Amino acid sequence: TMSTVEFKAFTEEQEALVVKSWSVMKKNASELGPKFFFKIFEIAPSAQKLFSFLKDSNIPVEKNPKLKSHAMSVFIMTCESAVQLRKAGKATVRESSLKKLGAVHFKHGVVDEHYEVTKFALLETIKEAVPEMWSPEMKNAWGQAYDQLVAAIKTEMKPSS
Ligand code: HEM
Repeated sequence: TMSTVEFKAFTEEQEALVVKSWSVMKKNASELGPKFFFKIFEIAPSAQKLFSFLKDSNIPVEKNPKLKSHAMSVFIMTCESAVQLRKAGKATVRESSLKKLGAVHFKHGVVDEHYEVTKFALLETIKEAVPEMWSPEMKNAWGQAYDQLVAAIKTEMKPSS
């Protein structure tokens, strides 16, 4: 079964803006990831405390593989959300993975503010990564795909049962 959240129409152009910019950015994924979460921690230093694997780690933050993979998850899942939004008119995430995502973020104490800061950091990172492609339309397309994905995750933000 699939979980869905209704949202405003997402056009083919918007999907193309997201997919096209991601295909360029992903070639630089190793730089993109650290840039992205450094922005998050710059704006919201307290967010670092949420990541349990950072607490007892001797690895410098920018080299932490788990943090890099979290950054990539946000990019990739937002991109997938854009594709689904266009195809199905709504973000569609497999219910099992959505349940897990909701439960994990709930358990670690991720709140609305963190999602907002992360959205801001995501858009800034994209703007700096592909300045020649950047436009208000691109910002809007990524923002909408992200909002939709987060809305879906939030529906499952409750203790796992
Ligand atoms: C864990 C994706 C937003 C903090 C995870 C995991 C994924 C993920 C795939 C791993 C879950 C697993 O164990 O299988 C996403 C996506 C987001 C998002 C797609 C937004 C669209 C955020 C935000 C924060 C955050 C805004 C906080 C600033 C965490 C933490 C964990 C986690 C603390 C657990 C890490 C640990 O094991 O210590 N997220 N995330 N996430 N996420 Fe997110």
